[in-house]
Amino acid sequence: MAATQVFGVDIGGSGIKGAPVDLARGELAAPRHKVLTPHPASPESVVAAVKEVVEHFDHQGPVGLTFPGVVVRGHTRTAANVDPGWIDLDAEGLFRETLDLPATVLNDADAAGLAEVAHGAGRGEAGVVLVLTFGTGIGSALFVDGTLVPNTELGHLELRGKDAERRASAAARERHELSWAEWSVRVDEYLDLVERLFSPQLVIIGGGVSRKHEKFLPLLKERAARVVPAALRNDAGIVGAAMATGRARH
Ligand code: BGC
Repeated sequence: MAATQVFGVDIGGSGIKGAPVDLARGELAAPRHKVLTPHPASPESVVAAVKEVVEHFDHQGPVGLTFPGVVVRGHTRTAANVDPGWIDLDAEGLFRETLDLPATVLNDADAAGLAEVAHGAGRGEAGVVLVLTFGTGIGSALFVDGTLVPNTELGHLELRGKDAERRASAAARERHELSWAEWSVRVDEYLDLVERLFSPQLVIIGGGVSRKHEKFLPLLKERAARVVPAALRNDAGIVGAAMATGRARH
């Protein structure tokens, strides 16, 4: 494998997936390798699992990694759905040392958003674009003319007195055994809220549940923003993580 190849790793609640990425095409350069996320997902055990994924490809070169929480300059700041050991950790430093490779860490929804806006459903779209990922939580990535505003954390907006993701994530649908129609009402309520605050012209729905978009997108009400499914689906996190390795940081 070429020494300059870029690698992306998507760290999720159930799996850690990685692959070399073709940055020009915005797609995986080889089939991804997945290992189960260790439980508890402490930094040490996750780093060991990531090492296994990267070594599977004998990769040498920069590695981009997603994290399901706030990431500021490589430090993980929150851990809503993961082990509290990640709070205020120099995650980038830890990955760099363990992998002995250049590492860049960013929020998972921001990574998915970067990939969707460059190569997927948001390609060529000017103005305000919001990418929302529905999974264990709700992730958000906000773009203005293609530029990311990182760590927006819109899954934690308050909805009916609760964290919005507790009511409207894909996990909430399963937890409360909601029908697609019942869940769509909650998603609509959430979209009303974000639309009131940000007036996006395009909302891209990602996360695992976007694979089943035909079950719920047609049930959502008409709104000013166009609401479309993510185009890259499962690979968006890996592609976006790899894209982040070459980006300037704020
Ligand atoms: C976290 C976000 C993350 C989202 C999706 C939320 O609970 O706070 O940082 O993007 O879940 O994983």
